[in-house]
Amino acid sequence: MGLLERVNEVHDQLNKDLSNVQNTFQSVEDLRLKYLGKKGIIPDLFRDFGTLDPNEKREVGKVLNILKKLAEEGIQKISDRLVDSDCLNTGFDYTLPGFPFKPGHLHPVTQTMNRICDIFREMGFVTEFGPEVETDFNNFQALNFPPNHPARDMQDTFFIDDDILLRTHTSPIQIRTMMKQKPPIRILAPGRVYRNEAINPRSYCVFHQVEGLYVDENVTFAELKVTIEVFAKKFFGKDVKLRFRPSYFPFTEPSAEVDISCIICGGTGCRLCKHTGWLEIMGCGMVDPNVFKACDIDPEKYTGYAFGMGTERTTLLKHGIDDIRLLYEGDIRFLKQF
Ligand code: DAH
Repeated sequence: MGLLERVNEVHDQLNKDLSNVQNTFQSVEDLRLKYLGKKGIIPDLFRDFGTLDPNEKREVGKVLNILKKLAEEGIQKISDRLVDSDCLNTGFDYTLPGFPFKPGHLHPVTQTMNRICDIFREMGFVTEFGPEVETDFNNFQALNFPPNHPARDMQDTFFIDDDILLRTHTSPIQIRTMMKQKPPIRILAPGRVYRNEAINPRSYCVFHQVEGLYVDENVTFAELKVTIEVFAKKFFGKDVKLRFRPSYFPFTEPSAEVDISCIICGGTGCRLCKHTGWLEIMGCGMVDPNVFKACDIDPEKYTGYAFGMGTERTTLLKHGIDDIRLLYEGDIRFLKQF
């Protein structure tokens, strides 16, 4: 039998096989191997085709290519149909788009912390960290809170023993830094702090603070004021107004608390600012000479300023949230808004 007749015969056979093949992946694969596999019928025909002389090749080549195309497309079509029907069998539509993937994001308090650090980093502050378990010396004494001093009552403390405690503020990082490094010092110290306080809308037993410290020759209160002003305008918006109110902290003299004009009412009075028009954002002041002495820094030669703010409080003010506990409940409906 000539090659042309064989091709035609295979063509008929292929048509029959395509319409009779069973609906299983294995049968379709067997069919593919039978016709298109390396040792299959069609490659075999192509091998014989190679031995024909050019005249015959023109005629046979045409039908042979048609046969090959029929085999490839026919088998592919059955295979596709089988995949589709498998979707039906398993009741799953593989062509459906996937479930939308909701990427997470940083916690609002972390976002605030990062933003605060970025703003001060631009002004040349470098970040320092310290341990959450501290000594009474670093947390209190070196910061000019003598034993039994009433100012200790400002910060209800979790004591571990007489001398060891959970730090109540990030100010001990000032002490650690001034103990190991001499001026000029310009640091920012973020971190978690603990206070033995009842949990209510305004206070929580764990929160975060960011502390700033700048020590050099001739550092002035005026520099402290501009630094805080630049920060507040970048963080809360360029239209906020600031005021410095005299206050008391053992480790600074003079001390002040900083208020910004209310970000909700702009100063006319509303619930957030308790109708005062002002919101307190931080404490600050000039480093007390006693703190320098405790760290072996000469208070006659150096001056410095310090400031400290609560990150949760700053987050609440920035977003006009009225309950600190929301920041710790991990409720996705709340968190995804930020
Ligand atoms: N450590 C203070 C507190 O937790 C906050 C503070 C106030 C820090 C004034 C300072 C400062 O550095 O100068 O209440």
